Amino acid sequence: MSTTDHVLSVRNISKSFGAIHAVRDVSFDVEKGEVLGLIGPNGSGKSTLFNCILGQLTPNSGEVFVDGKSVAGKSAYQLSRLGVGRTFQQLSVFPQMTVIDNIIMAGQEHRGSMVSRLFGKPDAGLTEAADQLIEFFRLGHLRDQMAGSLSYGQQKLLDAAMAFMAGPGLVLLDEPAGGVNLTMLEYLKERLQTYNREHDSTFVVIEHNMEFVMSLCTRIIVLAEGQIIAEGTPDEIRNNQQVIDAYLGG
Ligand SMILES: Nc1ncnc2c1ncn2[C@@H]1O[C@H](COP(=O)(O)OP(=O)(O)O)[C@@H](O)[C@H]1O
Ligand SMILES: [Mg+2]
Repeated sequence: MSTTDHVLSVRNISKSFGAIHAVRDVSFDVEKGEVLGLIGPNGSGKSTLFNCILGQLTPNSGEVFVDGKSVAGKSAYQLSRLGVGRTFQQLSVFPQMTVIDNIIMAGQEHRGSMVSRLFGKPDAGLTEAADQLIEFFRLGHLRDQMAGSLSYGQQKLLDAAMAFMAGPGLVLLDEPAGGVNLTMLEYLKERLQTYNREHDSTFVVIEHNMEFVMSLCTRIIVLAEGQIIAEGTPDEIRNNQQVIDAYLGG
């Protein structure tokens, strides 16, 4: 299928760190509105793949297309201007800033350079967008509190909200539920599902929690040692012997 039919197309991406072949010749497509899960044992190359897609790392080879256009060499900031948002595996909230300021800051990151983030005038449009996200993720009661005073789960929720400041187009989430308690996990899942439905936005989600992935995602890709070893519906993946072996054998 042509790359122009897809929100995201990854073609033959490889990335090595010295002798470590972290990602090997990975290709896949993501359709508009899809919630694609990316799973695999620790060290299988999931975060590296995200970083290659999002311009944080330059792949050794391969191409990435967003809405059919090559994004080779584009920075994370340029990508966010195309409506591509992300979260990192590690929390990227600023603990000494309020919840609302963290989200506004994320929006400035998506719109401008470091200089304009630091010295630019606060953008009224960003505040409005940030407040809408605060409301959507039901963080209103924490709006003016320091992010560092929030529980870990609340900070993960804030971190996810920040990724949506790039717009609802395409959001890549790296372990959004990592270390989050069960109640918050269910809540996060419900909010992501609702956002996906209301905005017809597209997600790619890396996550270790199988229940979370299996119930959130419509399709799942499995990486092992940098390569795609399986792809299918949650049911197909659950019953795939190669997948079971990769997890149990790893
Ligand atoms: N910046 C880096 N420098 C060297 N090795 C790295 C770097 N980032 C990741 N790796 C290695 O690449 C492999 C894949 O890592 P990663 O993409 O983080 O896996 P995952 O997210 O699936 O746990 C691992 O062997 C890891 O140690
Ligand atoms: Mg990772």
